[in-house]
Amino acid sequence: MPIDQSVTTAAISVRELSFAWASGETVLDRCTLSVPKGEFWMLLGTNGSGKSTLLRLLAGLLKPKSGDIEISDRVGFVFQNPDHQLVMPTVGADIAFGLVSEKLSYIETLHRVKESLSAVNLSQMLRRPIYALSGGQKQRVAIAGAIARHAEVLLLDEPTALLDGENQTDLVASVRELVKQKNLTALWVTHRLNELDYADGAFLLERGQVIDKGDPMRLKQVLLDRS
Ligand SMILES: Nc1ncnc2c1ncn2[C@@H]1O[C@H](COP(=O)(O)OP(=O)(O)O)[C@@H](O)[C@H]1O
Ligand SMILES: [Mg+2]
Repeated sequence: MPIDQSVTTAAISVRELSFAWASGETVLDRCTLSVPKGEFWMLLGTNGSGKSTLLRLLAGLLKPKSGDIEISDRVGFVFQNPDHQLVMPTVGADIAFGLVSEKLSYIETLHRVKESLSAVNLSQMLRRPIYALSGGQKQRVAIAGAIARHAEVLLLDEPTALLDGENQTDLVASVRELVKQKNLTALWVTHRLNELDYADGAFLLERGQVIDKGDPMRLKQVLLDRS
């Protein structure tokens, strides 16, 4: 059978996904999108358009009302506020804690922790207390936690919202590099249009539907024209 090289595999595939809160408020309304494996896509939309709800549905934290979600690999989630995610006193302990359910040996756990810290350029921080890290470093630890669990699909919900300019560009550039280096797939929610420079593609969500998608530079212009 001939293989069509132009067909890319989707790592995240969402079809006609709908979700409503118990109050009856519809947040996602037959939302359809897909992210190709190995790519870094961004999700944009005004406050309340359903971005966080969509990410939580993708992570299996909420149950859809209808529609399909297919995700090819293990998911790692990164929240806006790393203090809601990092629970142990030190960097190494936090990443190791995330591996408890994997039932690894001590040596294997240490190997995974070190490997993941190296992937986010924090190799020197194994024993560093979490409180002594900058916001950007905390987000890198959260990402290392996902890498250590061998997550290949990263869902990041406004991970730069609490960071200053330099930490913001560092984080987005390093996530792009990580995605390319390790052939991961990432869906990154943001309000900051300059981050689109690092994306392979973007979706624009409005009232629970994808109303535009594709080239990030074109979408950046669409949003700049609106503001
Ligand atoms: N836990 C919740 N219970 C009820 N409504 C919620 C809850 N979380 C969010 N919402 C509502 O769902 C809508 C979409 O929210 P959200 O997905 O957080 O939007 P975004 O991340 O795009 O700002 C908003 O109207 C919000 O008020
Ligand atoms: Mg949100």
